[in-house]
Amino acid sequence: MAGLVKAAPLTYVVHVLAVACAVMVLVWCIHFRGGLAWEATNKSLIFNIHPVLMLIGFIILGGEAIVSYKSLPLKKEVQKVIHLVLHAVALILGIIGIWAAFKFHNESSIPNLYSLHSWLGIGIIVLYTLQWIYGFVIFFYPGGNSSLRSESLPLHVLVGIFVYALAIANAAIGFLEKLTFLESSGLDKVGPEAYLVNFTAIATILFGGFVLLTVYAQKDEQTEEEDYRSYSAI
Ligand code: HEM
Repeated sequence: MAGLVKAAPLTYVVHVLAVACAVMVLVWCIHFRGGLAWEATNKSLIFNIHPVLMLIGFIILGGEAIVSYKSLPLKKEVQKVIHLVLHAVALILGIIGIWAAFKFHNESSIPNLYSLHSWLGIGIIVLYTLQWIYGFVIFFYPGGNSSLRSESLPLHVLVGIFVYALAIANAAIGFLEKLTFLESSGLDKVGPEAYLVNFTAIATILFGGFVLLTVYAQKDEQTEEEDYRSYSAI
């Protein structure tokens, strides 16, 4: 599998889709939904922070963190710092994004955590946090010995892929849920806003697909051997 596809062109597709997703979610929340605010009498503006931070902050930055080993031709040690910092920023923005959804619910007298989307969301953020802490302790500081690191890596990659795929699926559920709420309050089912939301969800799924494809793709020739060595003991 690793030899079939080259990583570089896939990482370009990832960046292009990231920009497309970011533009679409901003156009939706600012142009169609009235903008973003942390404090507002129109509580929907507080909600709007949620999809923006979950998509641009959590999913896009998390995806860029995953592909950073393939997209940046830098030394392994530098790549590792970029990987963990991007994941940390994604996690913090994801937590603020979820906080915005809770704030919107609390200020609108809507119960919290009633939906599949919200249950999966909590599970994802908890697993992502545990995965980050485990990765930090084993691969960065204080760092496990070489055999523990090489034994831990396949599990780190597997859990990372699982949690990331779940996050993409949950974002799609979130778009569907919000659009269904809006349509049951009168939004045109075949109007421009409904199409924009559905296309944003499709672009998000494509983005996630290309991120995961990049994980299995081959690096360029110069760095391949270095990459192999680093996989056995970072
Ligand atoms: C992986 C990304 C996402 C995660 C981890 C996530 C997580 C969550 C969580 C934990 C809640 C519960 C808040 C509460 O109960 O007070 C929530 C609410 C909500 N989210 Fe997301 N979310 C994500 C992306 C999205 C996206 C992209 C949308 C698109 C609009 C969205 C739409 C909603 C809606 C409509 C609610 C309120 C209704 C409900 O609680 O199900 N979410 N989200």
